[in-house]
Amino acid sequence: MNIVVLTGAGVSAESGIPTFRGPDGVWENHRIEDVASPEAFLRDPDFVHGFYNARRAALHGVAPNAAHFALAALERAWEGRGDFLLVTQNVDDLHERAGSRRLLHMHGELRQMLCAACGARHPWLTEADTATSCPACGETGLRPDVVWFGEIPYHMEPILAALDRADVFCAIGTSGVVYPAAGFAAQARRNGRGCILYEINPAPTGERYFDHVIAAPAGEGVPEFLRRLGV
Ligand code: OAD
Repeated sequence: MNIVVLTGAGVSAESGIPTFRGPDGVWENHRIEDVASPEAFLRDPDFVHGFYNARRAALHGVAPNAAHFALAALERAWEGRGDFLLVTQNVDDLHERAGSRRLLHMHGELRQMLCAACGARHPWLTEADTATSCPACGETGLRPDVVWFGEIPYHMEPILAALDRADVFCAIGTSGVVYPAAGFAAQARRNGRGCILYEINPAPTGERYFDHVIAAPAGEGVPEFLRRLGV
C-alpha cells in the first residue's frame, strides 16, 4: 500500500510558526505581492530579503512537534510495506529535523539560497542581502530558494508519479487554496486505485470530499492517523 502525505503550514502551527491565512496569519501582516513574487524581488530586493531573513531567524527558536515526529515514525514503519512520500508546502525544516527523509519541499526551503547568476544552491542559516555574494561564482544576486507566486513549484514530476501510485493520500494542515497542491487529492482520487483520502485539520476544508476527516490539531490528528493505518 503506497502513501502520499501533503503538509501545509498547520503542521508547524503547534511548533509556533504562524500559518498564512486567518487571524495573525503571515498574509494578514504582509501583502503577497510585496514579498512573495518575482516582481517584488525585482522592485525591492532588500525588503524581500528582510522578510525571509526574519522568518529564517525565527527557525532557530522552534522545534518539531508531535506531528512531525509521527510522520517520521510512519516513514520508518512503512519501509518494506509500500512506497511513502511526504510532500510539504512548508519552507521550514521541521520535518527533516524530526527525521523525515523521503521528503520533497515543493515550495522550496528557507534555509537555502539560490544564485540567480549560476544556479547554485547553498545551505543558509544567517541573513542575506543584495550585497551578499554567491559562494560558488562570487556574483551578487542570491535569492531565498523559495517558490514565489507565479513560479513553478519544485519536484512536480516525482510528486505526480507518487500520486498516480497512491493508495492512501492524507492532507494535513493546509487550507487547500493554493494550486497545484490544492489539486493533489483530486489527482490521487483519479488514479484508478481506489485511493482513500484523509484530511487532518482542526477546521476541515473538505468534509464532503475526503473519505476520512480527523478534525483535530496535527499533534493529535497525525498519531490518530497512524493508529488507523495500524502503525
Ligand atoms: P494556510 O495558512 O492557508 O492554511 C493553514 C491550515 O492549517 C488551515 O486550514 C488551518 O485550519 C490549519 N491549521 C491551523 N492550526 C492547525 C493545527 N494545529 N494542526 C493542523 N492544521 C492546522 O497554509 P497553507 O495551506 O500551507 O505558499 O498555504 C499554502 C501556501 O500558501 C503556502 O505554502 C504559501 C502560502 O501562500 C507560498 O508562499 C508559495
